[in-house]
Amino acid sequence: MIAKPLDDSLRAIVGDTHVITDADVRATYEVDWTRRFSGTSACVVRPANTTEVAEVLLRCSDAGVPVVTQGGNTGMVGGGVPRDREVLLSTVRLDNLHEVDAASAQVSAGAGVTLSHLQNHVRLAGFDFGVDLAARESATVGGMVATNAGGIRVLRHGSMRAQVIGLEAVFADGSVVRRMSGLIKDNAGYDLPSLLVGSEGTLAVITAARLRLVPPLGVRAAALVGVDDAQAAVSLLSKVRDLGTLAAAEVFFAEGLDLVRAHTQLPNPLPAAYPTYVLLEVAARPDPCDEFVKRLSECSEVRDAVVANDVAGQQSLWRYREAHTEAISAEGIPLKLDVSVPIAALAELVAALPTAICAVTPDARLVLFGHLNEGNIHVNVLNAEDCAELVTEAVLRLVSRLNGSISAEHGVGRAKVGWLSLTRSPEEIAAMRAIKCALDPKCLLNPGVLFDDS
Ligand code: FAD
Ligand code: MLT
Ligand code: ZN
Repeated sequence: MIAKPLDDSLRAIVGDTHVITDADVRATYEVDWTRRFSGTSACVVRPANTTEVAEVLLRCSDAGVPVVTQGGNTGMVGGGVPRDREVLLSTVRLDNLHEVDAASAQVSAGAGVTLSHLQNHVRLAGFDFGVDLAARESATVGGMVATNAGGIRVLRHGSMRAQVIGLEAVFADGSVVRRMSGLIKDNAGYDLPSLLVGSEGTLAVITAARLRLVPPLGVRAAALVGVDDAQAAVSLLSKVRDLGTLAAAEVFFAEGLDLVRAHTQLPNPLPAAYPTYVLLEVAARPDPCDEFVKRLSECSEVRDAVVANDVAGQQSLWRYREAHTEAISAEGIPLKLDVSVPIAALAELVAALPTAICAVTPDARLVLFGHLNEGNIHVNVLNAEDCAELVTEAVLRLVSRLNGSISAEHGVGRAKVGWLSLTRSPEEIAAMRAIKCALDPKCLLNPGVLFDDS
């Protein structure tokens, strides 16, 4: 699958053990988490450090062989798996994690460090990390930077972009850029780290990140609230937001709760069933729970609620939300469309989706959930394997009519290349392509991701 001269030079760089050509072993890297995207790689190469990454990229560039970068392979849009005989560059060995710099509340982490490893490391030093998501055991720093990951803490700390102080990265020609000093103010020219956040492996291989740390959340309380519909959820959020202690606001619906309960054997969270559920979490010092419960009791949208101010109780309430992804994937291979709309249009989107999707395929099973605060709904459609394009077209056009984005946090990948123009103007796409051609003139990095390269 790979020409011998390139194979020899890659082995000379990373060592025999870290060039994988065996088909069975390669296969474990070649299917994405959703099982919707797969391909064949020329080989898997696992460099140990930035110098090896640079040499691998230079050799692949000289040979004109494309490269796809992979971190934890938890991406949802097919961006981290090969399409057709790319060299798959795995960052798993770029896992060095430096000591926390308490004075600046920052840390330097290798691209292959997993989120959970980073979280444990910084928590031991009395800090926390601003982004959290359910794939924390596998998602890597490099992948989260490359996709500008969002997660469940965007309300309090923003997306991955807001956590990145600097980056080290390698361009397709093997040249290395390094901005890891941790300077908060450094206005000398274009901000390359910002450009690489969200670039989905198409502009460079990120090898390390200098990350901002945040204070621990403090005393927390979570509430799972039953409400009538998405409009009630939006209205409830508007009445608790000014508490100033809100740390998360998520939404899911009866269909998803049923799947989660069937998949996890969790009990019904409330005595009765409700059409819509809002998971709210407050965190502060001193304890914000009493004020939180008092405010909820004053909100007419609340049909019922369960509040947890202990860790076990909070984890149990979060399980209802975080188990959605695995519960849906246990039912089949879902078409996953991660979208966002202005929060004022959220209820309209939720109400319009069933009709839009059933017009394409009446057999569809629709499961919605997501990040209420950001107007970010994860549209999961089961039984749509043979009409995925038409369902995608219907959903993304609806989102576009509501002035939303075809991708809220997962990126474009290969999944949404054909619909980029619904959210980006021709002028923006032309500028993005100009940047791509400037930094990767041979278009060797992640071909087919973000741009239609046919
Ligand atoms: P991969 O899947 O390996 O790659 C993702 C993309 O980044 C690919 O295009 C790849 O080429 C590129 N890439 C990876 N590493 C690098 C690098 N070092 N340099 C350059 N490019 C690179 N996402 C959210 O935003 N919010 C959520 O709440 C969320 N929850 C999730 C829950 C579950 C259960 C799962 C399975 C996924 C979830 N995700 C979520 C999606 C996924 O975890 C994120 O997109 C994450 O950022 C991917 O990281 P990764 O290391 O797995 O990247
Ligand atoms: C989530 O919010 O749980 C993730 O983005 C995963 C998903 O969309 O399934
Ligand atoms: Zn999400």
